[in-house]
Amino acid sequence: MGALAIYPGSFDPVTNGHMDLIHRALKVFPRLVVAVAVNIRKHPMFTPEERVEMLTEALRGVNGVEVDTFSGLLVDYARHRQASIIVRGLRALSDFENEFQMAHMNRRLAPKLETFFMMTGQEHFYVSSQTVKEVAFFNGDISGLVPEVVLDRLRAKNGRSKDQPAE
Ligand code: PNS
Repeated sequence: MGALAIYPGSFDPVTNGHMDLIHRALKVFPRLVVAVAVNIRKHPMFTPEERVEMLTEALRGVNGVEVDTFSGLLVDYARHRQASIIVRGLRALSDFENEFQMAHMNRRLAPKLETFFMMTGQEHFYVSSQTVKEVAFFNGDISGLVPEVVLDRLRAKNGRSKDQPAE
């Protein structure tokens, strides 16, 4: 059995940028846990259960991946799962500073836990959970940027029916 890697995040909601990263991480790490953070300081649009449901649906049929939740410190969850690797995606320079801080803090807390960065595919550089939520809120077209299940859930959250197209 290869090393267990954890891909943690808010996933509020999962985007195709996350999906791309999961598929590429699975080529490196045969066992990957996508871990939804429960007690994030941001105010999430979706509950942890909804975020897990969307990920589970989007990842149906994908081998080697598990969806889970965690609360508290990521290093404690990693220890509990006996994982040795944290996977994080990097989009542009703007991601770097925060990721750099987090990786170093995590290394200080758990020196044996390695953070592994992967570049997000260039077609997803501008995609974030935040921007897709905002565009969807104003009824803009986000098809192709998120899995189908997320399109449906965002429409429902914004009070629109499935057949109502973006204006
Ligand atoms: O998708 P996000 O919001 O960029 O994910 C950030 C996340 C959830 C991975 C990060 O905030 C986290 O690990 N939170 C758990 C608390 C923790 O361990 N903090 C210490 C790292 S500085």
